[in-house]
Amino acid sequence: MTLPRLDHALQTAALELPPDARLAFLEPNAEFDVTAFEGASVQVQQNDKPGYDRFAALGATVATHVDGPVDVVHVTLPRSRELARGLIAQAQEIAPEGLVIVDGAKTDGIDPALKAVKARTEIDGQLSKAHGKLFWFRASDAFSDWTLPAPAPVTEGWITQPGVFSADGPDAGSQALVAALPPSLKGQGADLGGGWGFLTRHLLALPKVTHVEFVEADHRALTCAKLNLDDDRVAFHWADATTWGAPASLDWVVTNPPFHTSRTPDASLGQAFIASAARLLKPKGQLILVANRHLPYETTLAARFVHVKELEGDARFKILHAEQPRSPDRSGASRRR
Ligand SMILES: C[S@@+](CC[C@H](N)C(=O)[O-])C[C@H]1O[C@@H](n2cnc3c(N)ncnc32)[C@H](O)[C@@H]1O
Repeated sequence: MTLPRLDHALQTAALELPPDARLAFLEPNAEFDVTAFEGASVQVQQNDKPGYDRFAALGATVATHVDGPVDVVHVTLPRSRELARGLIAQAQEIAPEGLVIVDGAKTDGIDPALKAVKARTEIDGQLSKAHGKLFWFRASDAFSDWTLPAPAPVTEGWITQPGVFSADGPDAGSQALVAALPPSLKGQGADLGGGWGFLTRHLLALPKVTHVEFVEADHRALTCAKLNLDDDRVAFHWADATTWGAPASLDWVVTNPPFHTSRTPDASLGQAFIASAARLLKPKGQLILVANRHLPYETTLAARFVHVKELEGDARFKILHAEQPRSPDRSGASRRR
């Protein structure tokens, strides 16, 4: 079922779930096969739009926030310590006197999480597997001073929240992209993977930009972006940028594309963003993106655009500019627009 530690615990009967238990899974990875619990009452909390859509397509009851009450909560530990603590607190709240199961990779901090939980309550069981740990305990009020983090100001008028990309303040790559934005950029465009709104606020400051389609998969980041971008020229979309369709063809796309799937470096996601930009742009439209120097985007750009050049760069980042999409899936209708 692709939660290997939980699977192992259930298969070996190290952990037994009460019969007819109402279950909640807080932010499992998108590959989790929720149908393994078919017949049970299962709610899934999911912040990431592609994952949300996948769980919904499997027929699961899915929401960005699960309120309960349930009997058993499985928490997939996120990397952010504040968010991890918030999810554990939420778990005890939605399963009063129920069972809380915490599941995480070593690289996401499962050992310190176990230590912090152990300091407050008795652990009923634990096991190690697949470079991580699973532990479980009875919900109580032991974590009532831990809370789910909320959007809050961090620096220079920006609101972010733990768990989102570059939560401590503007990303260095995005700052380099902003410095390289051509002041002549005009018309309507999109910020794909807009995060909490850093690039879009700068795009809106350009004199000829009229409208920004803001596309972001992380619901928490989108919530922050709405607070950071109080401007009627922005349309917000909680969506997967690789499949999202614009209401009309665009003059430009700007992006600092994601380069990780969960914790694994994955250039194919950025390449899918490039393909999406080519699909969304007008025939003379332009794409501007920033990437870490080592990321292999040039071949995809050359396959999708007639003109490609490096606008600026240094040892760490490159700002790439591509013009005139030649995406094979452009229809004759969209060419005429
Ligand atoms: C490298 S960050 C850049 C964020 C923001 N533009 C900035 O400059 O700070 C990439 C963003 O893409 C978002 N993202 C990842 N996969 C996505 C997808 N399939 N569709 C839309 N956004 C996605 C991430 O949540 C993250 O906010």
